[in-house]
Amino acid sequence: MGKTLEELQTRDDGGDSTELIGDLAYTPDDQLTPTAKLIKSIITGGASGETSDTYPNVPIKGTSACKADTCCIWQYVANDMALVFRGASGRCTGLARGAVRLGFHDAAGWSKNTGKGGGADGSIILAPAEMTRDANNGLQEIVAQMSRWYARYKDYGVGMADLIQMGANVATVVCPLGPRIRSFVGRKDSNVACTDGLLPGVNQNADALIQLFQDKTIQPHGLTALIGAHTTSQQRFIDPARAGDPQDSTPGVWDVLFYKQTLGQAPPRVFKFQSDVVLSQDPRINPELTQFAGPGGQDHWNEDYAREYVRLSLLGVYNINNLTDCSKVLPPATISYSNPDQAVLDKWLASTKHSDPVAKALRDGSPITNLLNAVLALLGKIRREVTFAA
Ligand code: HEM
Repeated sequence: MGKTLEELQTRDDGGDSTELIGDLAYTPDDQLTPTAKLIKSIITGGASGETSDTYPNVPIKGTSACKADTCCIWQYVANDMALVFRGASGRCTGLARGAVRLGFHDAAGWSKNTGKGGGADGSIILAPAEMTRDANNGLQEIVAQMSRWYARYKDYGVGMADLIQMGANVATVVCPLGPRIRSFVGRKDSNVACTDGLLPGVNQNADALIQLFQDKTIQPHGLTALIGAHTTSQQRFIDPARAGDPQDSTPGVWDVLFYKQTLGQAPPRVFKFQSDVVLSQDPRINPELTQFAGPGGQDHWNEDYAREYVRLSLLGVYNINNLTDCSKVLPPATISYSNPDQAVLDKWLASTKHSDPVAKALRDGSPITNLLNAVLALLGKIRREVTFAA
C-alpha cells in the first residue's frame, strides 16, 4: 500500500480523516493512475484539495478537438453554472447554495455500514424516491436546474453524478472567498435510491452527528470544515415563519463569520442551527472550529474544506482509478470581497420583522441597498399616514 502506515499515523491525531475510500482501499499503488494517486494523497493529508489549474485554449463545443479532451465539455457546463450561481451583488445565489447542499446529499447517501451502493452516484435525481424524503426538502429548485443541464449535456457524455459534484464545486468557488476545489469526473450513475436515514438531522445530538459522519469516513475535523458551508445559507424549512433568515450576517459569502457567530453573539435575525450549536460546543469539534473563527482562519478552513469535500464527493465511488481531473474548468476564485451593502444588511439583521423582499433579494444574490431603503421609506410613509389619520 502506497499510503504508508507511518504517514497515516503522523496525521492521525484522532480528528483528521485519513481512511481510504472506494477502490483506493484495495488497489496497490503501482496500479494507480496519476489522478488516483493525487486523490489518495489529498484525502490522506498530503496534497492540497485546492487547485489553480487553468484551461487556456478551450476547443469549440462539438468539434473533434473538444471530443478528444474529456474536460472540454465540462468547461461549457461550468460556464452555464457560473451564470446562475453568481448574483448581481457578487454574492452567490440560492441556486449555488442549493448545489452545494445537493452535492452533499447525493454523496452522503453512503455509509461503511451499507456496503457498496449509494454515494456520489446521481441517485438523488435519477431515483425519484430520494427527493420525496423530508431530509431533501428545499432542493427542488436546484434539482430542476440540474435536470435541465443534464438534458442539455448528457448526449456529450456528461453523467448525473459528475454534474452534481461539479455543480457543488463551481458553486463553492463562485461564492466570494470560496475555495477552488479539485474536481474529478467519470463516476458511475445509479437510478437505485440510496438507503434512507443517512443524512444528518438538525435536532440530533453531537454524538449522533459525529458517529453518522464517522460512518462515512469523515472524522470530527472534517465535519467541522464541512458544516462551514452554512456560512452561505438562508434556512427556509426548519422554521418557515423565519424563511430566508441566514445562518450568519453575510449570506452568500464563503467567510468564517459563520463560525464566529455560531460560537458567540449574532444579530437577532441570524438563525443558528441547533446541530451547528451542539457541534460547536463538543470538545472534538470546538478547538478546530475556534481556529477557523480566529486569525488566519479563512485559509485554514478553505484548505480543510477542499480536502474534505474531495473525500465527500467520492464516497461510494469504486472507480476512482478511472477518473479524470477536470479542475481546470472551474471559474477563478474571488479571494477578496466585502459586501457593498453590509450596512443596510446589518439594519435588516438587527430587526425581527419579516421582510420577504429582502430575504428574496439575498437569495437571488441581488444588492439590497435600494430595496431596503424603499421598504423603510414605505414603512415610514404608512406610519405617517396612520398617525395623521388618528
Ligand atoms: C450536521 C450536519 C448538517 C445538518 C444537520 C444540516 C442541516 C441543514 C438544514 C436543516 C438546512 C436548511 C434547509 C432549509 O431549511 O432550507 C441546511 C442547509 C444547507 N446545508 Fe446543511 N446540514 C449539515 C451539514 C451540511 C454539509 C456537510 C454541507 C455541505 C458540505 C451542507 C450544506 C448546506 C447548504 C449549502 C445549505 C443551504 C441550502 C440553501 O440555502 O438552499 N450542510 N442544512
